[in-house]
Amino acid sequence: SFPTRRSSDLSCLNSYSQREGKGAEMMMKGALFDLDGVLADTASLHFKAWRKLAKENFGRSLPDELENKTRGISRSDSLSVILDYLEITVSKAKFHRLAEEKNQIYRNFLTDLSPDEVLPGMRDFITDLRKKGILTALASASQNGPFILERTGLSKYFNAIVDPSKIEAGKPAPDIYLAATAALELSPKECVGFEDAVSGIQSLKAAGIVSVGIGSDHEVGQADLRFSSTGDINFDDVEEIWAEITNNA
Ligand code: G6P
Ligand code: MG
Repeated sequence: SFPTRRSSDLSCLNSYSQREGKGAEMMMKGALFDLDGVLADTASLHFKAWRKLAKENFGRSLPDELENKTRGISRSDSLSVILDYLEITVSKAKFHRLAEEKNQIYRNFLTDLSPDEVLPGMRDFITDLRKKGILTALASASQNGPFILERTGLSKYFNAIVDPSKIEAGKPAPDIYLAATAALELSPKECVGFEDAVSGIQSLKAAGIVSVGIGSDHEVGQADLRFSSTGDINFDDVEEIWAEITNNA
């Protein structure tokens, strides 16, 4: 059977073409990333913006637990969750205006966005992946993704960026992660995905991609492997769990 500890023989690999398995063994070839809360310290700003919107438009506060429910899902899906909670029904036009207003509030929070907002360890981690010949793709629901990658200086680390506006069913559906694997011309089995949202872990699972969660057990306990924070992510552990799941399936 397949050895699960491969860190030693991987350390010498440095190009994509070298990442070919021997015989029928598969190699991990792609890493797929969520953005907010995985690469950039922007996740809480989304919910801060929703709170401001609810306060200003309806004089209402939002409970903490809504943050977990809106994490990872699109702007309009998030607005639906929030309006449901508030038990408020609005016209289509008003819905559109509210979504637009939330984005204005959120974008104001991003005014000073810089490489300082890259989460701990992530720039080094992606650099290391790429040195090992692993391809990278962004699979974020955020329409602000390209802007955030530019401002944080992370764009150059990505082989592909999925455009969420072209994806019909958002997370927890598998579509956005399947689009990311297709963009890298890899199969879901050859990839691993990094997520901080329940919806994102569900999306990865539905796509048949090994999932790494970043956050608490309450947030990403369903992931195949979990790290409490980005600073704890360790390549050897990721590859080990990937190999275990993929080659023992
Ligand atoms: C990410 C965040 C969500 C947000 C979504 C859409 O997935 O985790 O909280 O709703 O992006 O972001 P956008 O920037 O397009 O409003
Ligand atoms: Mg996220």
